[in-house]
Amino acid sequence: MHKGIAIYPGSFDPTTNGHLDLIERGAKIFEELVVAILRNSEKSPMFSVAERLEMLRELTEHLKNVRIDTFDGLMVEYAKSLEATCILRGIRAISDYEYELQMALMNRKLEPTLETVFMMPADKYSYVSSRLVREVAQAGGPVKGLVPEVVEQKLREKLDPAYKLRDARLIEVLGKRDLDKRQKKRKKKA
Ligand code: PNS
Repeated sequence: MHKGIAIYPGSFDPTTNGHLDLIERGAKIFEELVVAILRNSEKSPMFSVAERLEMLRELTEHLKNVRIDTFDGLMVEYAKSLEATCILRGIRAISDYEYELQMALMNRKLEPTLETVFMMPADKYSYVSSRLVREVAQAGGPVKGLVPEVVEQKLREKLDPAYKLRDARLIEVLGKRDLDKRQKKRKKKA
């Protein structure tokens, strides 16, 4: 196990199974892993930073050496503020390499003591990206197996407000515990 703090920075909009796979692999290698969500992204995100933070916290609850945080500005400055020694990034396919290499070398230029470490997620996630997940979900396609269930549910709520409303009404009628039971049964059947 590598002593010290590693940072896994990204947009996580939303977290995919590939991200989660990488977090789990990173948690086995680094003493402490900080998953850091970029706050000032220029892109207009689908999920707010608060929503992404909440989802990631829930998804990594079982990993005791993983912490979720957000950052602004230069990643290397944030890394320095935490006294982190490594940046963790995932490479799925050769197409990721060019962008990742550029970023790693720029970060090295900005802060030579910080090492970028690349890891590969499981090959079954090699085609999964947040962008494609958003695209498929927005077009009404299934994203089961590509994102964790919590994310799948949030996507459903985000893209179909009626879904959330229906649940809110059911909570009024059934109460939260009964609705949770119903949803668990529904998931088992699916
Ligand atoms: O999930 P993403 O969008 O591929 O993550 C990109 C991210 C957040 C890691 C990158 O854009 C970043 O670190 N931005 C912070 C600003 C910065 O430090 N830029 C110089 C990096 S070369």
